[in-house]
Amino acid sequence: MAWYGGLRVSSEAFRTEHHVTNGSQSNPDGKNQDRGSDAEKGSDTPQDPREDSREASRNGQGFDTVVGRVLLDRGLVTSDELDEALSIVAERRKLEPSADLSMVLVEQELLTNRQLERMRGEFEVDRSSQRIPGYTILQKLGSGAMATVFLARQLSLDRLVAIKVLPKRFSSNDSFIKRFYKEGRAAAKLNDPNIVAAYDVNQAGEHHYFVMEYVDGETLYDRIKRERRLDEPDALKIVKQVASALKHAHERGFIHRDIKPKNIMLGKAGKVKLADLGLARALTDKEAAEAEAGRAYGTPFYISPEQIRGKVELGPEADIYGLGATMYHMTTGRVPFDGRTPSQVMHRHLRDEVVPPDHVNSKLSPGSAQVIEMMLEKRPSDRYGSAADLIEDIDLLLAGKSPLHAGGRMDLSTVAEALSGETMNQPALDIRKAPRPNSVLGEPIVLMLMSLLGLSLFVILLLVLDRAGA
Ligand SMILES: Nc1ncnc2c1ncn2[C@@H]1O[C@H](COP(=O)(O)OP(=O)(O)OP(=O)(O)O)[C@@H](O)[C@H]1O
Ligand SMILES: [Mg+2]
Repeated sequence: MAWYGGLRVSSEAFRTEHHVTNGSQSNPDGKNQDRGSDAEKGSDTPQDPREDSREASRNGQGFDTVVGRVLLDRGLVTSDELDEALSIVAERRKLEPSADLSMVLVEQELLTNRQLERMRGEFEVDRSSQRIPGYTILQKLGSGAMATVFLARQLSLDRLVAIKVLPKRFSSNDSFIKRFYKEGRAAAKLNDPNIVAAYDVNQAGEHHYFVMEYVDGETLYDRIKRERRLDEPDALKIVKQVASALKHAHERGFIHRDIKPKNIMLGKAGKVKLADLGLARALTDKEAAEAEAGRAYGTPFYISPEQIRGKVELGPEADIYGLGATMYHMTTGRVPFDGRTPSQVMHRHLRDEVVPPDHVNSKLSPGSAQVIEMMLEKRPSDRYGSAADLIEDIDLLLAGKSPLHAGGRMDLSTVAEALSGETMNQPALDIRKAPRPNSVLGEPIVLMLMSLLGLSLFVILLLVLDRAGA
């Protein structure tokens, strides 16, 4: 099992039987272990990398040691690459005593500046060796843009919990800290089987932390990465549970604002839990909304057009869009809009029409495709108005029927068929048997003009025949 040092790691960390597959620990191809063990065999560092990093942390000068060890553990560098970088450092130090390994790793493009920054943050958390009263930190579960999440044991109740710890540098940012506490309070107001429960939010030394329910499983992001595409019924069941979490949150005035595969936890026995209400904000909290006006929040691949525009009054439709983009990704293996830069992706969310998901995955039912397209409408008013309506459609799809709310856009041939009564009361699968307009010839207006042309030709023919007869 790959390791990353936590806050005062207890010996229990070595004994834990929990198979944690999420975050940086997921190791589907086993590469990390291979490289890690190579390194252990060949290096003169202590046998157990945990001891090495911990020792380095205690000494207060071992960031380079930790960087090297963590990169090996995570399979990001081979021991040969690391040895080469170390010899460059040794050479360079003869001229430039301050040269260090992380600098060389960045130069060699083995590490990006962003990864380096994140590792420094994690190291800082480590070095502080803070004890969080009442909890024993067991191991790292993962880290995101702003925080690191650890698995811990809550001593009083003898249960496993997940603790999100902020790096020290955030302590000086008042507005961020306020938001962090708000996340805790917001999450505490929500009580739903599909939402990760919030237990506590507090401060230990210079670290602020948030204690929540531990989900033993993986994130939807990990699953998509592994399987690329999920089976349609599986995807529908996941979407239904997230929609149910959203229904609960929306009815209490909260918009999540950051729906994406990394924030959807897949627990045991198919249980889905929505995590990270970190960007959630009370619908009524105008002051906070205005302070952020003009700044788009969220991850570009799943962000709604109105968030990109920095709209202040966000409605449930913003989360429906994020869930639509997530469902698109789950069922097609692709995000709806890709691009070279975040700004390119955001522009595409604003302007481009999405490639119909059933054109990307021909196995996807037309009904599911209609639902996804409705969730991804550019204008919030064209999307589902509530998570309850979405659940209604998902239930129909799961029962093999047509969605009720989605699917307003049918081509003329489908309308004609429907009017003739042939397809009435048939599942969406049949209703969308008619090829979807993917060329200008399929557009309703073109079909109408062509019918008119046909009619005119027919009339001309009649006239000609009439004359010929006369
Ligand atoms: N309650 C939890 N139980 C188990 N693992 C969790 C829990 N919450 C978070 N994690 C793990 O910790 C990782 C980091 O979570 P975090 O919310 O800090 O970032 P993220 O959502 O992955 O990314 P970003 O910062 O971009 O939103 C997650 O990807 C997940 O693997
Ligand atoms: Mg998260």
